Formats: sequence, structure tokens, C-alpha cells
Amino acid sequence: MKIMSGNSNLPLARAIAAYLELPLTDASVRRFADEEIFVEIHENVRGEDVFVVQPTSYPANDNLMELLICIDALRRASAKRITAVVPYFGYARQDRKPGPRTPISAKLVSNLITEAGADRVLSVDLHAGQIQGFFDIPTDNLFAAPVMAADIQARYGDQSLMVVSPDVGGVVRARALAKRLDNAPLSIVDKRRDRPGQSEVMNIIGDVKGRACILIDDIIDSGGTLCNAAQALMDAGAVSVTAYITHGVLSGAAVSRVTSSALKELVITDSIQATEAAKASDKIRILTIAPLVGEAIRRIADESSVSSLFD
Ligand code: R5P
Repeated sequence: MKIMSGNSNLPLARAIAAYLELPLTDASVRRFADEEIFVEIHENVRGEDVFVVQPTSYPANDNLMELLICIDALRRASAKRITAVVPYFGYARQDRKPGPRTPISAKLVSNLITEAGADRVLSVDLHAGQIQGFFDIPTDNLFAAPVMAADIQARYGDQSLMVVSPDVGGVVRARALAKRLDNAPLSIVDKRRDRPGQSEVMNIIGDVKGRACILIDDIIDSGGTLCNAAQALMDAGAVSVTAYITHGVLSGAAVSRVTSSALKELVITDSIQATEAAKASDKIRILTIAPLVGEAIRRIADESSVSSLFD
């Protein structure tokens, strides 16, 4: 087994390799003067089971192209099996046609990864479970929920919890977390978004008065969804609101929006490499998913069960 990394999230790739007690494959992924990407693998990979770690986060197009070119290099070097380990799968929110004459970019990206030569895909908290079906190769979708649940139990376990989904689309994810928290009660924020990039809170379904609310979502991008939801929950009588989000996209002014929001704390994972601003914010804490991804890789390589990781 070999672990290779692009440039998108080297700290995570190193942590995964450390969990597996393996060195990272010696390779360089660099740019020509005109920014074209060039990949060179400096060790033999013929007949190897290779896992390429590369979340397709910002800059999404560059990181995606790096992933595709790494896969192509491995295929031409006769790797036996190539698994694209994409802890954050960019373009996932474009998973259906929102209107006429629009693309389904998540499907296009799935096709590109497959065509490049990937034999398998491993991702974490895909925006929608059905994206697994966009690939005609085996695809494992891991959940960060066990990592989050352990942290919530340790930090907030003694409080009267309420798990909250910030929108109707996230109810299945929130319910799964609530189940892990001794069947904590569930509430839903009925969010209406008029225009992409803007979010507006309308109603809270459920009584959050006196509760320590745990907001759960897959992505924080501009931060609008979460910060508005946090304010609405506090207005409805919550004692505190803490957010657990798998993918800290945190574009533009998101970090300062979080810092000045009603949120007590934002907890993200290292599926995306945190920016300096995110690391410096005392409201943002980062949980690692390296052992989770590392263990899934070990099980894929050993051909043992991955789903039992979540029992
Ligand atoms: C939407 O369906 C996602 O699950 C997130 O709620 C959304 O992407 C968050 O975006 P933002 O932080 O820009 O409101």
C-alpha cells in the first residue's frame, strides 16, 4: 500500500500516513512557468495499491486538476489499484439541475475522476449521499459524526442538548448525530434562500428554550446559513449554540462573520486545510479525521468492512 498526496492538504495526508505508519510516496507535484501542473513520482509504484489524498477545496479547479494528473501519472506507472481519497469533494453542491440549461457539475467531476483512471473513491460526508451513485466505481462515503459525537459528549455531555439541522435538507445528518448522543431531541431551522450566497432564517421547528444547541451541517462556506441560524436559536431562548461542521470551506469574510456571530464555538474537521485566519480565530476549533480516514484506508487495503467503522 502507498499513500501519495497532492498539494491541497499535505498536513492531513501526513497525519493519515503517520496513522498507517507509512512514509508518503516520494513525488513532486509542481507548476511550470505558465501554471500547468506537472507530477513526477520518484519511486516505483508498479503493482501497488495506491491512495491519493487530495481534497478538491479552494482553489477547486487547480486541486481537481492536480488530482486528475496524479491519477494519470499513477495509471501510466502501472499502479495496480488507485483510490482517489477526496475528503472534501468540491462541486458537490451542484448535484442536480436547479433550472433549465444548467450543468450537473458533481456528475461531470465524478466522470473526470473515473476517466483519469481511479479504481475507487473514498470521501467524507458527501453533500448528498446519492453522489456515491454518480460514480460507477466503488465509492465509500465516511461520516465525521463519530468524531464529532465523541467531542460533544466530552465537552457538552452534561448539558441539556438539542441537535439542530440548519435546513430541511440536513435532517437525516442531524438525526444520525442525535442518535449517537443518546437520542438527543432534534430541531430544524426552516431556511429560505432567495439568491445563491444569501440565506435567511424563517422559523425554528421545535422548542429550543433552555437548551444547549448543537448545529450540524456538512459545509460552512460564507457562514451565512450558520450565523443566521445561531442568532435565530438564541432569539428563541437557547442557552448556547455550538456548530459542528465537517468541511470548513470558510470563503471570503466567513471567519470574521463567525467571530462576531452568536455562535459559542465553531468546530470543523481538517478535511480542508485551515487558513491562517481560521487557525487564529479563538472561536474555531479543528478536529482531525486522519485516524478515521486512515482506518478506512487500512480496511480497504485489507478488504475488510468499512461500514463497521460506524456501528
Ligand atoms: C447547503 O445545502 C449546505 O449544506 C450548507 O448549509 C451551505 O453550503 C452553507 O453555505 P453558507 O455557509 O454559504 O451559508
